[in-house]
Amino acid sequence: MLSDIKKMQFHENILGTLGHTPLVRLNKITKGFKGHFFAKVESFNPGGSVKDRIGIEIIEEAEREGRLRPGGTIVEATSGNTGMGLAIAAAIKGYKCVFTIPDKMSMEKIRLLRAFGAEVIVTPTAVPHESPESYTEVAKRVVRETPNSILANQYFNPKNPEAHYRTTGPEIWDQTGGQIDYFVAGVGTGGTISGIGKFLKEKNPNVKIIGIDPKGSVLKEYFYTKTYPHILKTYKVEGIGQDWLPGTLNFDVIDDMVEVNDKESFTMCRKLTREEGLFAGGSCGTAMAGALKYAAEHMKENEVMVVLLPDTGERYLSKIYNDDWMRENGFLTPDRVTVKYVLQNKAKTVQQLITIDSTASVQTALDLFKQHDVSQLPVLEKGKPVGTILDSALLTAVLSDKSKLNDTVKSLMEPAFPVIGTSSPIEHAIDLLKKKDSAVLIEEDQHIVGILTRYDVIEYMAR
Ligand SMILES: Cc1ncc(COP(=O)(O)O)c(C=O)c1O
Repeated sequence: MLSDIKKMQFHENILGTLGHTPLVRLNKITKGFKGHFFAKVESFNPGGSVKDRIGIEIIEEAEREGRLRPGGTIVEATSGNTGMGLAIAAAIKGYKCVFTIPDKMSMEKIRLLRAFGAEVIVTPTAVPHESPESYTEVAKRVVRETPNSILANQYFNPKNPEAHYRTTGPEIWDQTGGQIDYFVAGVGTGGTISGIGKFLKEKNPNVKIIGIDPKGSVLKEYFYTKTYPHILKTYKVEGIGQDWLPGTLNFDVIDDMVEVNDKESFTMCRKLTREEGLFAGGSCGTAMAGALKYAAEHMKENEVMVVLLPDTGERYLSKIYNDDWMRENGFLTPDRVTVKYVLQNKAKTVQQLITIDSTASVQTALDLFKQHDVSQLPVLEKGKPVGTILDSALLTAVLSDKSKLNDTVKSLMEPAFPVIGTSSPIEHAIDLLKKKDSAVLIEEDQHIVGILTRYDVIEYMAR
Protein backbone atom coordinates (compact mmCIF):
# COMPACT_ATOMS: atom_id res chain seq x y z
CA MET A 1 0.00 0.00 0.00
CA LEU A 2 1.49 3.33 -1.05
CA SER A 3 1.32 5.98 1.63
CA ASP A 4 4.51 8.00 1.03
CA ILE A 5 6.24 7.66 -2.32
CA LYS A 6 9.21 9.65 -0.98
CA LYS A 7 10.18 6.63 1.13
CA MET A 8 10.71 4.55 -2.00
CA GLN A 9 13.98 4.41 -3.90
CA PHE A 10 13.49 4.13 -7.64
CA HIS A 11 14.16 5.75 -10.99
CA GLU A 12 11.34 7.46 -12.90
CA ASN A 13 12.37 5.43 -15.93
CA ILE A 14 15.38 3.41 -17.09
CA LEU A 15 17.21 6.54 -18.25
CA GLY A 16 17.72 7.37 -14.58
CA THR A 17 20.32 4.59 -14.50
CA LEU A 18 22.43 6.29 -17.16
CA GLY A 19 26.07 7.05 -16.39
CA HIS A 20 27.88 6.84 -13.04
CA THR A 21 29.51 3.71 -14.41
CA PRO A 22 32.13 2.05 -12.22
CA LEU A 23 35.89 2.54 -12.33
CA VAL A 24 37.51 -0.87 -11.89
CA ARG A 25 41.18 -1.62 -11.22
CA LEU A 26 42.91 -3.86 -13.75
CA ASN A 27 45.04 -6.41 -11.97
CA LYS A 28 46.29 -9.22 -14.18
CA ILE A 29 46.64 -8.02 -17.76
CA THR A 30 48.75 -5.11 -16.52
CA LYS A 31 51.24 -7.28 -14.58
CA GLY A 32 54.79 -6.17 -15.28
CA PHE A 33 53.75 -2.64 -16.30
CA LYS A 34 54.65 0.43 -14.27
CA GLY A 35 51.79 2.48 -12.81
CA HIS A 36 48.14 1.92 -11.95
CA PHE A 37 45.49 0.98 -14.49
CA PHE A 38 41.72 1.42 -14.25
CA ALA A 39 38.85 0.63 -16.61
CA LYS A 40 35.80 2.88 -16.99
CA VAL A 41 33.23 0.17 -17.59
CA GLU A 42 30.54 1.61 -19.84
CA SER A 43 28.62 -1.65 -20.27
CA PHE A 44 26.90 -0.70 -16.99
CA ASN A 45 24.76 1.80 -18.90
CA PRO A 46 21.13 0.74 -19.43
CA GLY A 47 21.63 -0.12 -23.11
CA GLY A 48 24.99 -1.73 -22.40
CA SER A 49 27.27 0.88 -23.99
CA VAL A 50 28.89 4.29 -23.73
CA LYS A 51 26.57 5.49 -26.51
CA ASP A 52 23.53 5.56 -24.22
CA ARG A 53 24.98 8.81 -22.91
CA ILE A 54 24.56 10.61 -26.24
CA GLY A 55 21.15 9.21 -27.25
CA ILE A 56 19.07 11.18 -24.74
CA GLU A 57 21.12 14.38 -25.14
CA ILE A 58 20.57 14.40 -28.91
CA ILE A 59 16.84 13.71 -28.64
CA GLU A 60 16.15 16.34 -25.97
CA GLU A 61 18.09 18.98 -27.89
CA ALA A 62 16.01 18.26 -31.01
CA GLU A 63 12.84 18.55 -28.90
CA ARG A 64 13.96 21.88 -27.41
CA GLU A 65 14.71 23.22 -30.88
CA GLY A 66 11.28 22.04 -32.11
CA ARG A 67 12.85 19.81 -34.76
CA LEU A 68 11.41 16.66 -33.19
CA ARG A 69 7.68 16.66 -32.53
CA PRO A 70 5.33 14.03 -31.02
CA GLY A 71 5.00 10.97 -33.24
CA GLY A 72 8.30 11.81 -34.96
CA THR A 73 10.96 9.45 -36.27
CA ILE A 74 14.62 9.37 -35.25
CA VAL A 75 16.98 8.24 -38.00
CA GLU A 76 20.65 7.42 -37.51
CA ALA A 77 23.62 5.79 -39.18
CA THR A 78 25.03 3.60 -36.43
CA SER A 79 27.40 0.75 -35.82
CA GLY A 80 24.73 -0.43 -33.39
CA ASN A 81 25.43 1.12 -30.02
CA THR A 82 24.25 4.66 -30.76
CA GLY A 83 21.11 3.07 -32.17
CA MET A 84 20.56 1.31 -28.84
CA GLY A 85 21.04 4.54 -26.90
CA LEU A 86 18.56 6.34 -29.14
CA ALA A 87 16.11 3.42 -29.15
CA ILE A 88 15.88 3.37 -25.34
CA ALA A 89 15.16 7.09 -25.14
CA ALA A 90 12.76 6.82 -28.11
CA ALA A 91 10.88 3.95 -26.43
CA ILE A 92 10.32 6.06 -23.33
CA LYS A 93 9.35 9.16 -25.27
CA GLY A 94 7.25 7.40 -27.92
CA TYR A 95 9.26 8.06 -31.08
CA LYS A 96 9.84 5.69 -33.99
CA CYS A 97 13.41 4.77 -35.01
CA VAL A 98 15.01 3.89 -38.34
CA PHE A 99 18.67 2.84 -38.25
CA THR A 100 21.12 2.15 -41.04
CA ILE A 101 23.93 -0.22 -40.10
CA PRO A 102 26.86 -1.58 -42.16
CA ASP A 103 26.71 -5.31 -42.85
CA LYS A 104 29.97 -6.03 -40.99
CA MET A 105 28.29 -5.37 -37.64
CA SER A 106 27.34 -8.35 -35.51
CA MET A 107 23.94 -10.03 -35.86
CA GLU A 108 23.44 -9.46 -32.13
CA LYS A 109 23.42 -5.68 -32.60
CA ILE A 110 20.93 -5.81 -35.45
CA ARG A 111 18.64 -8.08 -33.41
CA LEU A 112 18.93 -5.82 -30.35
CA LEU A 113 17.82 -2.79 -32.36
CA ARG A 114 14.88 -4.71 -33.80
CA ALA A 115 13.98 -5.91 -30.30
CA PHE A 116 13.38 -2.25 -29.44
CA GLY A 117 10.99 -1.97 -32.40
CA ALA A 118 13.42 -0.08 -34.63
CA GLU A 119 13.43 -0.51 -38.39
CA VAL A 120 16.97 -1.57 -39.36
CA ILE A 121 18.38 -1.11 -42.88
CA VAL A 122 21.57 -3.10 -43.45
CA THR A 123 23.97 -1.39 -45.90
CA PRO A 124 27.27 -2.54 -47.48
CA THR A 125 30.43 -1.94 -45.42
CA ALA A 126 32.95 -1.88 -48.27
CA VAL A 127 31.85 1.42 -49.87
CA PRO A 128 33.31 4.90 -49.24
CA HIS A 129 31.31 7.02 -46.80
CA GLU A 130 30.21 9.41 -49.59
CA SER A 131 28.73 6.59 -51.72
CA PRO A 132 24.90 6.71 -51.99
CA GLU A 133 24.90 3.13 -50.64
CA SER A 134 26.87 3.96 -47.47
CA TYR A 135 25.08 3.84 -44.14
CA THR A 136 25.49 7.61 -43.62
CA GLU A 137 24.08 8.49 -47.06
CA VAL A 138 21.17 6.02 -46.79
CA ALA A 139 20.26 7.55 -43.41
CA LYS A 140 20.18 11.04 -44.97
CA ARG A 141 17.90 9.75 -47.73
CA VAL A 142 15.51 8.20 -45.18
CA VAL A 143 15.25 11.59 -43.42
CA ARG A 144 14.49 13.36 -46.71
CA GLU A 145 11.74 10.84 -47.44
CA THR A 146 10.20 10.69 -43.92
CA PRO A 147 8.02 13.58 -42.68
CA ASN A 148 8.61 14.74 -39.07
CA SER A 149 11.95 12.96 -38.84
CA ILE A 150 15.40 14.00 -37.66
CA LEU A 151 18.88 12.69 -38.29
CA ALA A 152 20.55 12.19 -34.90
CA ASN A 153 23.80 12.89 -36.79
CA GLN A 154 26.30 11.59 -34.24
CA TYR A 155 29.20 12.36 -36.62
CA PHE A 156 28.52 16.09 -36.54
CA ASN A 157 26.14 16.71 -33.64
CA PRO A 158 27.93 18.79 -30.95
CA LYS A 159 25.69 17.10 -28.37
CA ASN A 160 27.75 13.93 -28.87
CA PRO A 161 31.04 15.26 -27.38
CA GLU A 162 29.07 17.54 -25.04
CA ALA A 163 27.38 14.54 -23.41
CA HIS A 164 30.84 13.27 -22.45
CA TYR A 165 32.08 16.71 -21.41
CA ARG A 166 29.06 16.97 -19.14
CA THR A 167 28.96 13.42 -17.71
CA THR A 168 31.79 10.95 -18.46
CA GLY A 169 34.64 13.45 -18.03
CA PRO A 170 33.49 14.71 -14.61
CA GLU A 171 32.80 11.13 -13.46
CA ILE A 172 36.38 10.10 -14.28
CA TRP A 173 37.80 13.22 -12.61
CA ASP A 174 35.76 12.55 -9.45
CA GLN A 175 36.41 8.81 -9.39
CA THR A 176 40.18 9.35 -9.62
CA GLY A 177 40.09 12.29 -7.21
CA GLY A 178 41.83 14.24 -9.98
CA GLN A 179 44.79 11.82 -9.87
CA ILE A 180 44.78 10.87 -13.54
CA ASP A 181 47.82 11.06 -15.84
CA TYR A 182 46.55 9.29 -18.97
CA PHE A 183 43.09 8.80 -20.46
CA VAL A 184 42.78 6.24 -23.28
CA ALA A 185 39.84 5.58 -25.64
CA GLY A 186 39.17 4.17 -29.09
CA VAL A 187 38.00 6.71 -31.67
CA GLY A 188 34.87 6.31 -33.78
CA THR A 189 32.92 9.56 -34.06
CA GLY A 190 35.50 10.94 -31.62
CA GLY A 191 32.70 12.13 -29.35
CA THR A 192 33.90 10.15 -26.34
CA ILE A 193 37.57 11.14 -26.48
CA SER A 194 36.89 14.76 -27.52
CA GLY A 195 34.35 15.44 -24.75
CA ILE A 196 36.27 13.67 -22.00
CA GLY A 197 39.61 15.00 -23.25
CA LYS A 198 38.37 18.59 -23.23
CA PHE A 199 37.02 18.25 -19.69
CA LEU A 200 40.12 16.58 -18.26
CA LYS A 201 42.52 19.03 -19.94
CA GLU A 202 40.54 21.97 -18.57
CA LYS A 203 40.96 20.46 -15.11
CA ASN A 204 44.63 19.63 -15.63
CA PRO A 205 46.41 20.40 -18.93
CA ASN A 206 49.06 17.79 -18.09
CA VAL A 207 46.65 14.88 -18.44
CA LYS A 208 47.63 13.03 -21.62
CA ILE A 209 44.78 11.96 -23.91
CA ILE A 210 45.59 8.92 -26.04
CA GLY A 211 43.41 7.87 -28.99
CA ILE A 212 43.44 4.31 -30.30
CA ASP A 213 42.85 3.62 -33.97
CA PRO A 214 42.29 0.24 -35.65
CA LYS A 215 44.77 -0.71 -38.38
CA GLY A 216 43.09 0.10 -41.70
CA SER A 217 41.54 3.38 -40.47
CA VAL A 218 42.87 6.79 -41.56
CA LEU A 219 42.71 8.60 -38.23
CA LYS A 220 46.15 7.93 -36.77
CA GLU A 221 47.99 8.83 -39.96
CA TYR A 222 45.87 11.96 -40.43
CA PHE A 223 46.57 12.99 -36.82
CA TYR A 224 50.34 12.95 -37.39
CA THR A 225 50.68 13.94 -41.07
CA LYS A 226 47.43 15.79 -41.90
CA THR A 227 47.19 13.59 -44.99
CA TYR A 228 45.12 10.51 -45.72
CA PRO A 229 46.97 7.22 -46.22
CA HIS A 230 46.64 5.77 -49.73
CA ILE A 231 45.91 2.20 -48.81
CA LEU A 232 42.75 1.64 -46.81
CA LYS A 233 41.98 -1.78 -45.48
CA THR A 234 38.77 -3.13 -44.03
CA TYR A 235 38.98 -4.35 -40.48
CA LYS A 236 36.69 -6.41 -38.32
CA VAL A 237 36.59 -4.45 -35.08
CA GLU A 238 33.29 -2.56 -34.81
CA GLY A 239 32.47 1.02 -33.82
CA ILE A 240 35.91 2.63 -34.19
CA GLY A 241 38.14 3.90 -37.00
CA GLN A 242 37.09 5.86 -40.10
CA ASP A 243 37.91 6.46 -43.75
CA TRP A 244 37.21 10.21 -43.22
CA LEU A 245 37.27 12.83 -40.44
CA PRO A 246 34.06 13.17 -38.40
CA GLY A 247 33.08 16.69 -37.34
CA THR A 248 32.80 15.53 -33.73
CA LEU A 249 36.48 14.58 -33.51
CA ASN A 250 38.65 17.28 -31.92
CA PHE A 251 42.31 16.38 -32.48
CA ASP A 252 43.33 19.45 -30.40
CA VAL A 253 42.67 17.57 -27.15
CA ILE A 254 44.49 14.39 -28.25
CA ASP A 255 48.21 14.03 -27.49
CA ASP A 256 49.06 10.76 -29.20
CA MET A 257 47.45 8.04 -31.27
CA VAL A 258 48.29 4.34 -31.25
CA GLU A 259 47.41 1.76 -33.92
CA VAL A 260 46.12 -1.70 -33.03
CA ASN A 261 45.27 -4.52 -35.45
CA ASP A 262 42.25 -6.83 -35.27
CA LYS A 263 44.16 -9.79 -33.89
CA GLU A 264 45.66 -7.71 -31.07
CA SER A 265 42.19 -6.26 -30.34
CA PHE A 266 40.39 -9.57 -30.15
CA THR A 267 43.13 -11.36 -28.23
CA MET A 268 43.11 -8.58 -25.63
CA CYS A 269 39.32 -8.53 -25.59
CA ARG A 270 39.22 -12.19 -24.60
CA LYS A 271 41.93 -11.61 -21.99
CA LEU A 272 39.87 -8.82 -20.40
CA THR A 273 37.01 -11.26 -20.09
CA ARG A 274 38.96 -14.33 -18.99
CA GLU A 275 41.54 -12.71 -16.73
CA GLU A 276 39.77 -9.64 -15.34
CA GLY A 277 36.16 -10.92 -15.51
CA LEU A 278 35.21 -7.85 -17.57
CA PHE A 279 32.97 -9.13 -20.37
CA ALA A 280 34.45 -6.94 -23.07
CA GLY A 281 33.36 -5.93 -26.58
CA GLY A 282 35.83 -5.80 -29.47
CA SER A 283 36.71 -2.12 -29.22
CA CYS A 284 37.45 -2.61 -25.49
CA GLY A 285 40.22 -4.95 -26.62
CA THR A 286 41.49 -2.33 -29.09
CA ALA A 287 41.55 0.40 -26.43
CA MET A 288 43.24 -1.86 -23.88
CA ALA A 289 45.83 -3.26 -26.31
CA GLY A 290 46.66 0.30 -27.43
CA ALA A 291 46.81 1.46 -23.81
CA LEU A 292 49.36 -1.19 -22.93
CA LYS A 293 51.47 -0.46 -26.04
CA TYR A 294 51.57 3.18 -24.98
CA ALA A 295 52.13 2.37 -21.30
CA ALA A 296 55.10 0.12 -22.09
CA GLU A 297 56.92 3.14 -23.50
CA HIS A 298 55.66 6.02 -21.39
CA MET A 299 54.19 5.08 -18.01
CA LYS A 300 56.16 5.63 -14.83
CA GLU A 301 55.71 4.18 -11.35
CA ASN A 302 52.76 5.70 -9.52
CA GLU A 303 51.16 7.19 -12.62
CA VAL A 304 47.47 6.52 -13.27
CA MET A 305 45.91 5.46 -16.58
CA VAL A 306 42.15 5.20 -17.19
CA VAL A 307 40.99 3.17 -20.21
CA LEU A 308 37.39 3.48 -21.39
CA LEU A 309 35.72 0.17 -22.25
CA PRO A 310 32.74 1.06 -24.50
CA ASP A 311 30.48 -2.00 -24.49
CA THR A 312 29.85 -5.64 -23.61
CA GLY A 313 30.99 -8.97 -25.01
CA GLU A 314 27.37 -10.14 -25.29
CA ARG A 315 27.19 -8.17 -28.54
CA TYR A 316 29.95 -10.29 -30.07
CA LEU A 317 29.11 -13.84 -28.97
CA SER A 318 28.82 -14.95 -32.60
CA LYS A 319 32.20 -13.46 -33.48
CA ILE A 320 34.98 -12.70 -30.98
CA TYR A 321 33.71 -15.29 -28.50
CA ASN A 322 33.08 -17.89 -31.21
CA ASP A 323 36.26 -19.97 -31.74
CA ASP A 324 35.21 -21.01 -35.26
CA TRP A 325 34.83 -17.37 -36.37
CA MET A 326 38.13 -16.46 -34.72
CA ARG A 327 39.92 -19.39 -36.37
CA GLU A 328 38.38 -18.76 -39.80
CA ASN A 329 39.63 -15.18 -39.65
CA GLY A 330 43.10 -16.18 -38.47
CA PHE A 331 42.72 -14.50 -35.05
CA LEU A 332 43.01 -17.60 -32.90
CA THR A 333 46.47 -19.05 -32.94
CA PRO A 334 47.38 -21.34 -30.08
CA ASP A 335 50.69 -20.70 -28.26
CA ARG A 336 52.02 -23.96 -29.66
CA VAL A 337 50.71 -24.68 -33.15
CA THR A 338 50.27 -28.39 -33.75
CA VAL A 339 50.03 -30.31 -37.00
CA LYS A 340 46.38 -31.02 -36.09
CA TYR A 341 45.60 -27.28 -35.91
CA VAL A 342 47.01 -26.66 -39.40
CA LEU A 343 45.25 -29.75 -40.75
CA GLN A 344 41.90 -28.61 -39.30
CA ASN A 345 42.24 -25.22 -40.96
CA LYS A 346 43.09 -26.83 -44.28
CA ALA A 347 40.13 -29.21 -44.04
CA LYS A 348 37.65 -26.36 -44.57
CA THR A 349 38.62 -25.95 -48.22
CA VAL A 350 40.35 -29.13 -49.36
CA GLN A 351 39.28 -32.74 -49.38
CA GLN A 352 41.11 -34.32 -46.47
CA LEU A 353 43.11 -37.26 -47.79
CA ILE A 354 43.14 -39.28 -50.99
CA THR A 355 45.19 -42.49 -51.03
CA ILE A 356 45.58 -45.49 -53.29
CA ASP A 357 46.08 -49.16 -52.48
CA SER A 358 49.38 -50.70 -53.61
CA THR A 359 47.53 -53.28 -55.74
CA ALA A 360 45.58 -50.65 -57.75
CA SER A 361 46.51 -50.20 -61.41
CA VAL A 362 48.45 -47.28 -62.88
CA GLN A 363 45.30 -46.46 -64.92
CA THR A 364 43.31 -46.11 -61.66
CA ALA A 365 46.01 -43.87 -60.25
CA LEU A 366 45.97 -41.60 -63.34
CA ASP A 367 42.17 -41.37 -63.07
CA LEU A 368 42.50 -40.33 -59.40
CA PHE A 369 45.11 -37.64 -60.21
CA LYS A 370 42.76 -36.19 -62.79
CA GLN A 371 39.59 -36.46 -60.71
CA HIS A 372 41.06 -34.79 -57.62
CA ASP A 373 43.52 -32.47 -59.35
CA VAL A 374 46.48 -33.73 -57.32
CA SER A 375 50.00 -34.62 -58.44
CA GLN A 376 51.08 -37.13 -55.80
CA LEU A 377 49.34 -39.86 -53.84
CA PRO A 378 50.34 -41.89 -50.80
CA VAL A 379 50.24 -45.63 -51.45
CA LEU A 380 48.84 -47.76 -48.61
CA GLU A 381 48.91 -51.46 -47.81
CA LYS A 382 46.47 -52.57 -45.11
CA GLY A 383 46.13 -48.91 -44.15
CA LYS A 384 49.89 -48.42 -43.70
CA PRO A 385 51.92 -46.12 -45.98
CA VAL A 386 54.33 -48.10 -48.14
CA GLY A 387 55.17 -45.64 -50.90
CA THR A 388 54.28 -42.58 -52.96
CA ILE A 389 53.33 -42.22 -56.60
CA LEU A 390 53.94 -39.06 -58.60
CA ASP A 391 51.87 -38.23 -61.68
CA SER A 392 54.99 -37.15 -63.59
CA ALA A 393 56.76 -40.51 -62.98
CA LEU A 394 53.67 -42.52 -63.98
CA LEU A 395 53.09 -40.46 -67.13
CA THR A 396 56.74 -40.82 -68.21
CA ALA A 397 56.54 -44.61 -67.72
CA VAL A 398 53.26 -44.93 -69.66
CA LEU A 399 54.49 -42.71 -72.50
CA SER A 400 57.46 -45.07 -72.99
CA ASP A 401 55.37 -48.25 -72.63
CA LYS A 402 51.55 -48.14 -72.85
CA SER A 403 51.19 -51.59 -71.26
CA LYS A 404 52.33 -50.06 -67.95
CA LEU A 405 48.75 -48.81 -67.55
CA ASN A 406 47.83 -52.27 -66.31
CA ASP A 407 50.76 -52.62 -63.89
CA THR A 408 50.18 -52.14 -60.19
CA VAL A 409 51.23 -48.82 -58.69
CA LYS A 410 53.55 -50.78 -56.39
CA SER A 411 55.87 -51.41 -59.34
CA LEU A 412 56.34 -47.69 -59.98
CA MET A 413 56.15 -46.18 -56.50
CA GLU A 414 58.81 -44.18 -54.69
CA PRO A 415 59.55 -44.17 -50.94
CA ALA A 416 56.64 -43.27 -48.62
CA PHE A 417 56.27 -39.76 -47.16
CA PRO A 418 57.37 -39.48 -43.53
CA VAL A 419 54.64 -39.97 -40.92
CA ILE A 420 54.17 -37.68 -37.88
CA GLY A 421 51.55 -37.57 -35.13
CA THR A 422 48.73 -34.99 -34.97
CA SER A 423 50.09 -33.51 -31.75
CA SER A 424 53.56 -32.82 -33.20
CA PRO A 425 54.48 -29.15 -33.38
CA ILE A 426 54.15 -27.71 -36.89
CA GLU A 427 57.90 -26.94 -36.81
CA HIS A 428 58.51 -30.69 -37.02
CA ALA A 429 56.55 -30.87 -40.29
CA ILE A 430 58.35 -27.77 -41.60
CA ASP A 431 61.78 -29.34 -40.88
CA LEU A 432 60.83 -32.43 -42.90
CA LEU A 433 59.35 -30.40 -45.76
CA LYS A 434 62.48 -28.24 -45.94
CA LYS A 435 64.49 -31.37 -46.81
CA LYS A 436 63.50 -33.61 -49.71
CA ASP A 437 59.92 -34.55 -48.87
CA SER A 438 57.18 -32.63 -50.59
CA ALA A 439 54.52 -33.81 -48.11
CA VAL A 440 54.15 -35.44 -44.70
CA LEU A 441 51.46 -37.90 -43.64
CA ILE A 442 49.63 -37.30 -40.39
CA GLU A 443 48.77 -40.15 -38.07
CA GLU A 444 46.31 -40.38 -35.18
CA ASP A 445 45.56 -43.55 -33.20
CA GLN A 446 47.61 -45.64 -35.68
CA HIS A 447 45.55 -44.37 -38.64
CA ILE A 448 46.66 -42.02 -41.40
CA VAL A 449 44.21 -39.12 -41.09
CA GLY A 450 45.68 -36.45 -43.34
CA ILE A 451 48.44 -35.09 -45.50
CA LEU A 452 50.22 -31.74 -45.35
CA THR A 453 51.98 -30.62 -48.49
CA ARG A 454 54.52 -27.80 -48.79
CA TYR A 455 51.71 -25.69 -50.25
CA ASP A 456 49.42 -26.35 -47.26
CA VAL A 457 52.10 -25.28 -44.80
CA ILE A 458 53.10 -22.19 -46.80
CA GLU A 459 49.43 -21.20 -47.04
CA TYR A 460 49.13 -21.51 -43.26
CA MET A 461 52.34 -19.48 -42.74
CA ALA A 462 51.10 -16.76 -45.11
CA ARG A 463 47.93 -16.38 -43.05
C1 LIG B 1 31.70 -0.43 -29.70
C2 LIG B 1 32.13 0.99 -29.84
N1 LIG B 1 33.29 1.35 -29.34
C3 LIG B 1 33.75 2.61 -29.47
C4 LIG B 1 33.03 3.58 -30.10
C5 LIG B 1 33.63 4.94 -30.29
O1 LIG B 1 33.06 5.97 -29.60
P1 LIG B 1 33.03 7.41 -30.24
O2 LIG B 1 32.07 7.36 -31.42
O3 LIG B 1 32.52 8.29 -29.17
O4 LIG B 1 34.39 7.77 -30.70
C6 LIG B 1 31.79 3.23 -30.62
C7 LIG B 1 31.02 4.20 -31.36
O5 LIG B 1 30.01 3.88 -31.98
C8 LIG B 1 31.33 1.90 -30.48
O6 LIG B 1 30.15 1.51 -30.99
